[in-house]
Parts: sequence; structure tokens; C-alpha cells
Amino acid sequence: MSTRKLYIETYGCQMNVLDSEVVAAILQQQNYQLTGELHEADLVLVNTCSIRDNAEQRVRSRLQHFKGLKQGTRPVTVGVIGCMAERLKEKLLEEEKVVDLVVGPDAYRELPLLLQEVGSGQKGVNTLLSLEETYGDINPVRMDRNHVTSFVAIMRGCNNFCSYCVVPGTRGRERSRDPETIIRETTELFQRGYREVTLLGQNVNSYRWKNGGNELQFEKLLERVAVIDPDLRVRFATSHPKDMSDDLLKVMAAHPNLCRSVHLPVQSGSTEVLQRMKRRYTREHYMDRISAIRKYLPEASISTDIITGFCGETEAEHQQTLSLMKWVGYDFSYMFKYSERPGTFAAERYEDDVPDEIKTHRLNEVIDLQMRLSLESKERDVGRTFQVLVEGTSKKSDDHLYGRTSQNKVVVFPKRDIKRGDYINISVTDCTSATLIGEVI
Ligand code: SAH
Ligand code: SF4
Ligand code: F3S
Repeated sequence: MSTRKLYIETYGCQMNVLDSEVVAAILQQQNYQLTGELHEADLVLVNTCSIRDNAEQRVRSRLQHFKGLKQGTRPVTVGVIGCMAERLKEKLLEEEKVVDLVVGPDAYRELPLLLQEVGSGQKGVNTLLSLEETYGDINPVRMDRNHVTSFVAIMRGCNNFCSYCVVPGTRGRERSRDPETIIRETTELFQRGYREVTLLGQNVNSYRWKNGGNELQFEKLLERVAVIDPDLRVRFATSHPKDMSDDLLKVMAAHPNLCRSVHLPVQSGSTEVLQRMKRRYTREHYMDRISAIRKYLPEASISTDIITGFCGETEAEHQQTLSLMKWVGYDFSYMFKYSERPGTFAAERYEDDVPDEIKTHRLNEVIDLQMRLSLESKERDVGRTFQVLVEGTSKKSDDHLYGRTSQNKVVVFPKRDIKRGDYINISVTDCTSATLIGEVI
């Protein structure tokens, strides 16, 4: 078999980044070699996201661009994989003529077979979802740039059905990965020089592995990963406020290499909006969880996700989001305007009735507030010393390196004789709302 070239472009969340690495591993077995050069690719795959309409529009305009690839003399196959493939299925072939291949997130093992079908002049489609697939035995081909930080999937799918969200539809039911394969993969990464892993799942708190009569829950898994080596930093995402337990926070407190940073998406500060979102917690419950984090991990940073302009959101409800943001004092947030997604509970039952300009106005208020909170959060660190894991050379200056604190804040500092993957102590001397600036001590 001659070697062929594979080009993958990835959109969406970290889970998709990992999936692209799994796909690369599957295709490597078929003699496909990764390339970063679109023009030399025999197979172009776009790993797609459906979370908001603009994510899909971006992919569609990329597909338009790929039409040009097919005008050459060499045959080029174009495939859409990931969440948009799952959501649109065969419809994608009709709507985007450039596409030869449509493969959903649970069908990547079928890629070799589907490519054969495409090779014989057919279109290849497989969007079957699975109750078991975790790709647990596949060793992803790492595509990160720094060789210091990496992701490890611990589960797939989601059973929460938040009313606005496509993920349960595009990723299927929740399933946990065999812990032995998680430990093996993480240990191997450490041995190869990686110094930080992020354990990934849509709702890691509901990780559960049954083996005979025994059940392993997330806290226990995290403990097992923590003891692989004290020099391995461990992060995880995403936690769901309804399931985040004190037991988990106690495990974090007991292991200094479990990073002092909790991502706890709130979505809205109003109990009524949360109810319409089917988040299954109240504003008060969320505040109670924040208090628990502060109690067990006083030095932890806290980040969140926020949606503005969800169906029926009043000005008063929006104000509750702003007041909760101030109460928590988030160190960082991902902030979005609500985008109605076909097939979700919200699309079918509620009216998307907040006018776009009000959604935007509210989003801007949320962003402005977060800018202020982020700056305050960084300013609190000036004058303090942090252990930093070095990730590489600063994007803005060759004379500077950058790394992260346990709290997940980026620190930039003058270059010294230090390699990426090293831990060093940095004294923070200055900051912007996005970055800490410091000196090696
Ligand atoms: N599983 C994670 C995150 C999944 S998607 C969780 O439950 O928190 C990442 C973020 O995208 C969500 O937290 C939410 O803030 C946002 N999001 C999801 N669906 C959206 C939609 N229809 N419109 C706007 N933002 C959305
Ligand atoms: Fe979507 Fe909710 Fe599942 Fe997160 S928990 S992926 S927001 S349905
Ligand atoms: Fe997007 Fe799918 Fe992730 S919809 S956010 S790529 S799970």
C-alpha cells in the first residue's frame, strides 16, 4: 500500500481535538500520513462542531473553499466528521456537493471501509451512534504543539439534555472509559515527557465504571491519576454544578498536583432561566457549590460558561447573571449569545424571543464585566510567587517564555536556560487582563 496524505482541520471543543487524534491513529494503520499542507492532501477531513449556528456556518464556508482542491488532476477525498456530520447525516451530501464522506463521532473505526467505498466511486456515510464506543484501546496520534500538555478522554456522550444543547443528539448517550486504559495512556504520556493532562468529558462528575460488584467513580479515578507522579499536573473538564460533590473537592485538596482551577459552567444566574434550560440546579445551589470550592480549595481559580438571551430571558433575569458573576468573581469565562439549535427541547417548545440586538447588548455587558473581573483576578496575583509549568516560547516575543500556574493563568517571563516541561518559580511583577508578567526567581 502506498502512503497517502491526510489533512485534518478541527473545530469545536477539546473532545473534537482528541477525536481528530483518534482518527489520525486509525488512518495511520491504513498508511495515511498526517500533513499540515492542504495542497498535498489526498484526504481532507473537517472535524466539525454544531454547538452554535455560527460554528456550522464557518465549516460551510470552508467546504466552499475545498471545492478548488477538486479541480486538480489528483483525486482528493473530502470528508465531514464530528458533530455536524451526526446532526445533518446524508443531508450534508445533498447540501454540500464537495463532500464524499460523512462520519459521525462513534463511527470512526469504520473510516477505512468507508474510504474504500469512496474509492470505488460511491459516497461513504456512517452516523450510527453507539452505547459502548469509547476508543479506549486506541492510542491517539498527538497533534499538540508543545509536547507538555495533553488531553485524555475519560467518557463520551451526555445524558443531561440541557434544553438548548445539541450535544446529547450529536454525541449520544453517556458512557465511561475503562480506567485501566486511562491510567495506561496517562502514564505513557508522562513517560514521554508530558507534564500535564486534562481529563475530558461533558460531565466528568458522572464518570462511573462498573466492574463486577465494584463501581469506580470520578473521585477515585482522579485519585488514581493523581498518584501516577507528583510531577504530573492534572486538570479536568467539565464539571456540572448539579453533580459536583464535596468528596471531589476533598480529593483535590489532598493532592497538590490536581490543579487549583475549577471550571463550573453556570449558564445563567437566574433560577427561572436555569429551570427553562433544564440545568437541574438553582442559583442558591450553585452558590453553595462555589462556597464549597472556596472552603476546600481557597487558592483555586473559578471559571464558567454563560449564555445570554436564552428564551424568555427578562432584563431582571439578565441582571441576576451579572450579580452572580460579581458575587463569584470569576477569574475567566466563556461567554455566548444563545443560538437556537434544531431538534433541541428549547427549539421545539420555547420561542427564541429575545431580539438579537438585546442578546448582543447583554453579551457585551457580560463581556465587559468579565474583563474587569479578569483584571482584578490577575491584579491580586501581582507580588506573589507561583510554580509555573513552562509550555514554550511566547507568541509575541522570542525573548520570552510562557507557562501556566496551577490556577490556569498564563504567565510570560524573560527567557533563561529553561526547557519546556520544566517547573520554575516565578514572581509576578505586572499583569494585563489576560496575562501575568513575571520574573524567574
Ligand atoms: N458539557 C459542558 C459544555 C458543553 S458546550 C457543560 O455542560 O457545561 C460548551 C458551552 O457552549 C456550554 O457550556 C454553553 O455555555 C454553550 N452552549 C451550548 N449550547 C449553546 C447554544 N445553543 N447557544 C449558545 N451557547 C451554547
Ligand atoms: Fe450540553 Fe448540558 Fe450535556 Fe453540557 S451537560 S453537553 S450543556 S446537554
Ligand atoms: Fe461542538 Fe460537538 Fe464539542 S457540538 S462543542 S464539537 S461535542
